[in-house]
Amino acid sequence: MALIHPPAHKIHPRPLPKWRWLPQFFINPLSIYSEQAFESLYARSEAFGIDTLSINDPAGIKHVLLDNMANYERPVVLARLFRPAMGRGVFLAEGTEWRRQRRMLAPLFSPAAINDLIPHFQTAGEQMLSRLGQGGNVRLSEVFHRAALDAVLKALFSLKAEGHHADIPVMVRQYLGGAGRPNPLDGMARTEDDFGWAQASRKAFSRKWTAMVDGVIAERRTAGGDQAHARGDLLDLLLSARDPQTGEGLTDAEIRDQCSTMLAAGFETTSRMLFWASYLLSLDTAEQDRLRAEIAAFTPDRVTRMEDLAHWPRLRNTLLEALRFYPPAAYVTRRAMGADVIDGHQISAGTEIWISPFVLHRHRKFWDQPTAFMPDRFAGVNAPWTTMEGYLPFGAGPRICIGASFAMVEGQILLAHLLSRFTVTATDNQPVLPVFRVTTVPDRDPLFRLTQALPAA
Ligand code: HEM
Repeated sequence: MALIHPPAHKIHPRPLPKWRWLPQFFINPLSIYSEQAFESLYARSEAFGIDTLSINDPAGIKHVLLDNMANYERPVVLARLFRPAMGRGVFLAEGTEWRRQRRMLAPLFSPAAINDLIPHFQTAGEQMLSRLGQGGNVRLSEVFHRAALDAVLKALFSLKAEGHHADIPVMVRQYLGGAGRPNPLDGMARTEDDFGWAQASRKAFSRKWTAMVDGVIAERRTAGGDQAHARGDLLDLLLSARDPQTGEGLTDAEIRDQCSTMLAAGFETTSRMLFWASYLLSLDTAEQDRLRAEIAAFTPDRVTRMEDLAHWPRLRNTLLEALRFYPPAAYVTRRAMGADVIDGHQISAGTEIWISPFVLHRHRKFWDQPTAFMPDRFAGVNAPWTTMEGYLPFGAGPRICIGASFAMVEGQILLAHLLSRFTVTATDNQPVLPVFRVTTVPDRDPLFRLTQALPAA
């Protein structure tokens, strides 16, 4: 059986000279790589006066994200891009403040809490199907954006993504395609507030986003909790959280920033994973048929606990393979706060560390046939994002994505709903290539044809 190799950017025979890669980097960093990037373990470069070490070596990655993590913080550019949507929530917090926030949020993402969320993911899946009706030609990126928003609003805030909430994906898409794109001034900035005059559109987004999140919280406070949340939702948890030392609760601003963070981190990434998985399945229709048979044998309405997802191993492996090819978070970056040495590479305060799941996931040292779509490579591997060398879709170490299981469970339930009803085919044979815009998005927004699937034989 011939393997399918999804379309990919040209790999340059040699590293591009700086005058070529720097402008190209701002157009699409995923298109600048040379053969060497997929073979080497370390690469040193410099841009805008910032010394940068790119690491593919698992030992070096572990050093930065775990063993000596206290020496590495999120770089300025991340704060410039994410602060407007995430405020002072856990994603951008550092040190003791980060530890406090992470501890406080952990119960919301425990396996027991995720089991409680399953009915919400199912409702989001059913609503997605009812919006799709008989199918036809659709933009799956919009379908999944809406469904993933629905899932996160239900799961975290006990709310429906109806009426004005439907504007949220539009706001996010506009931000990622406009003000939220990194630019050369971000490269030159040494503090979050440098070139403040050029940040007007980010501040405008921040005002709009904050007002929207305030509205969501106010609405949820009025509507009250949801009986389906045995453990309470995110807002209940934040409202009742107390600092064990002082007994103080969180301020309204802290509550809002945490909600903003979960909303921003929680639905864009997951909907991209679903888009790319569907794209891969439109290229490999035989695998798509196998998934449909797997889902027909255990229909989505039968899932009540995470363990039930074991009935869909191929579906899980397809999502994992989509995360390998197109990791929504294509870069995990850090800035050194003090001197260090990583496998002989000298690090000084200010050195930036770039770890690219996009590069790692196609690296020739870690993968057999890295350019081929082979979901079976994950067969039988439990939580490969913590156990497989070179596989880092959710980051690593104590700051690993808090929502990894949330995303995987939600992703399987939403995609199972779609495939249980429809066959997904491309409407054209033009390639779709990944572009990095804070998350990994398609270079164009293709239409897919959804046709009613025949019952599995
Ligand atoms: C496929 C979906 C997702 C992907 C690929 C993804 C990826 C990541 C990655 C790579 C990181 C680590 C960043 C770093 O170390 O610099 C991260 C952190 C984070 N993610 Fe996710 N994520 C996903 C879904 C979610 C969901 C559903 C939520 C919440 C509902 C979430 C909330 C967060 C938060 C709060 C952090 C910061 C954790 C900390 O700093 O302690 N993510 N995510």
